[in-house]
Amino acid sequence: MNVLLLGSGGREHALAWKLAQAPSVTRLYAAPGNPGIAEEAELVALDATDHAAVIAFCQGNSIDLVVIGPEAPLVDGLADSLRAAGIPAFGPSRAAAQLEGSKGFTKDLCARANIPTGGYVRTRSIEEADRALTQFTAPYVLKADGLAAGKGVVIAESIEQAEIALADMFGGGFGEAGAEVVIEEFLHGEEASFFAITDGTTVIPFGTAQDHKQVGEGDTGPNTGGMGAYSPAPVLTQELQDRVMAEIIRPTVDTMRAEGMPYSGVLYAGLMLTAEGPKLIEYNCRFGDPECQVLMMRYQGDLAEMMLSCAKGELDETPPAFAPDTALTVVMAAKGYPGTPEKGGTIVLGACSSGAEANGAKVFHAGTAMKDGALVANGGRVLNVTAMGASVTQAKAKAYEALDRIDFATGFCRRDIGWKEVAREAADAG
Ligand code: AMP
Ligand code: GLY
Repeated sequence: MNVLLLGSGGREHALAWKLAQAPSVTRLYAAPGNPGIAEEAELVALDATDHAAVIAFCQGNSIDLVVIGPEAPLVDGLADSLRAAGIPAFGPSRAAAQLEGSKGFTKDLCARANIPTGGYVRTRSIEEADRALTQFTAPYVLKADGLAAGKGVVIAESIEQAEIALADMFGGGFGEAGAEVVIEEFLHGEEASFFAITDGTTVIPFGTAQDHKQVGEGDTGPNTGGMGAYSPAPVLTQELQDRVMAEIIRPTVDTMRAEGMPYSGVLYAGLMLTAEGPKLIEYNCRFGDPECQVLMMRYQGDLAEMMLSCAKGELDETPPAFAPDTALTVVMAAKGYPGTPEKGGTIVLGACSSGAEANGAKVFHAGTAMKDGALVANGGRVLNVTAMGASVTQAKAKAYEALDRIDFATGFCRRDIGWKEVAREAADAG
């Protein structure tokens, strides 16, 4: 089959790498892609917001499947436009993508379907929000309702801080996304991510992961899109995974279908493992970035075939095959991230350049570009250095060994990715 992949980050490089390995794929195109994706796919200049142009490309190039990587085109209804033109797309419709596009929508769905999550109030003005705050205790969790590139969540330690954040949100600090603000109960516990693939009816679990959202070591400092991740997440025991499927994922898929918004694609649940059991923090309507990179390192099936069967509503119940080993990825970001990242810094991959994989490690490109024949930084998160090992400790050692061979003077990374699990493994080893 011929496949078109949309997106340009590390997540899409990992998807491109796996799609290129799939026996079912004849030609792989990617738009807009990046220099890493260019090694796996033929890059085309297409703007995902121009639905007519994407459809015309698909029709002109006999595309059998479109894989939509990021959330914005999904929330914008690109999958609907493609399906209306008879082109199979991996990813949910605009209506179903509300699970990520509107935090209030998801909270209301949880309430209707009795899905465990924190208590909440949806508010549309600062006055309403002020009144709602009195129902909660510190720390206060405030969320801009719409898409805010991972920056729409504020955890305020005091009422005063909450007031400042609310004034910013309703004052347009998050643009349209902040026209409504959801105030939520603060959940205590350890966070973990759970992935499922569904065609709207059939649902299969698709792996677990944990990521490090904060920029600083020891999980400190401002939130980012993610500074590293590993899969599987041992905290999500089989028993907990079964509960997540039964109490959170299946009721969501069943309710969406029953309400005329069948969800098709990957459903990514951000969970808090509380004393009362797993609770939903949020849904995403796409793979996590960088969680996708570690899932793809472990996935052993034909990704294109699986995605096409999902897109056609013919998903197989058979559990997907994953390597039992741990995959761990370390993000190299450009100095300044998550504020204003320094652009244009030179990167020399050396032994880690794609193809010549260092010690089994794989470097996925996120924000990179080619300038005058040289690889340069072109974004906040720049590279994802990913390795496999028999334990988190071993995968971590291999990832940093590869990372240390990369010359990227204007870049930085956290040195402690996987620390919680490394500590548990050390404790278990006695
Ligand atoms: P989100 O963008 O919804 O994933 O939120 C970003 C981060 O804020 C999450 O990864 C959590 O660390 C934290 N967070 C969000 N909601 C809650 C909550 N209700 N209780 C505790 N922490 C939360
Ligand atoms: N790494 C978190 C996310 O993709 O939302």
